[in-house]
Amino acid sequence: MVMSMEMMDAIEKDNVVFLSTCADDIPNVVPIGFARPVDDQTILLVDNYMNKTRKNMEKNPKASLVLRDASKCPYQFKGRVEIYESGEYFDDAVDWATSVMSKLSPKAAIIFKVEEIFSVQPGPDAGKKVD
Ligand SMILES: Cc1cc2nc3c(=O)[nH]c(=O)nc-3n(C[C@H](O)[C@H](O)[C@H](O)COP(=O)(O)O)c2cc1C
Repeated sequence: MVMSMEMMDAIEKDNVVFLSTCADDIPNVVPIGFARPVDDQTILLVDNYMNKTRKNMEKNPKASLVLRDASKCPYQFKGRVEIYESGEYFDDAVDWATSVMSKLSPKAAIIFKVEEIFSVQPGPDAGKKVD
C-alpha cells in the first residue's frame, strides 16, 4: 500500500504521530515527534525513549498510527515495524535526532512499513480501507 504525496507531506509537516502497539492484550499508544516519511511505503520513527512500545514491537511487529492533526490527514496507517540498532537507517535517525536536540542518544531507528490505510474521516467513509 502506498501513501499519497498529500499523506507524506502531512506526516513531514505535522511529524507528531500517535503510535499504537500491542502485545499481551494491552494496547499502548504514545506520541512520537521524530516521524517522517522515507518513501511512499515507509515511515521512519526514532526510538529515543520507547519502553513499553519497544517491548511490544519486539514481541509483535504490527503497529498502527495516526497523525496528531488527523483533521489534515484523516487516515489510519497500519503496518509492520523493523527495528535497526545499526546501519543506514540507524545512522539517519541519529543524525536527524541529534541535529534537532544534541542531548538525544537514539536507541534505534524504527522503520514502519505501511501495509494498509483506512479513512478516519467522519462520515460514510469512516473506517473504510483506502485502495
Ligand atoms: C510530544 C512528544 C513527542 C515524543 N516524541 C518521541 C520520539 O520521537 N521518540 C521517542 O522514543 N519517544 C518520544 N516521546 C516519548 C513517548 O511518547 C513515550 O513517553 C515513550 O515511548 C515511553 O512510553 P512507552 O512505555 O509507552 O513506550 C514523545 C513524547 C511526547 C509527549
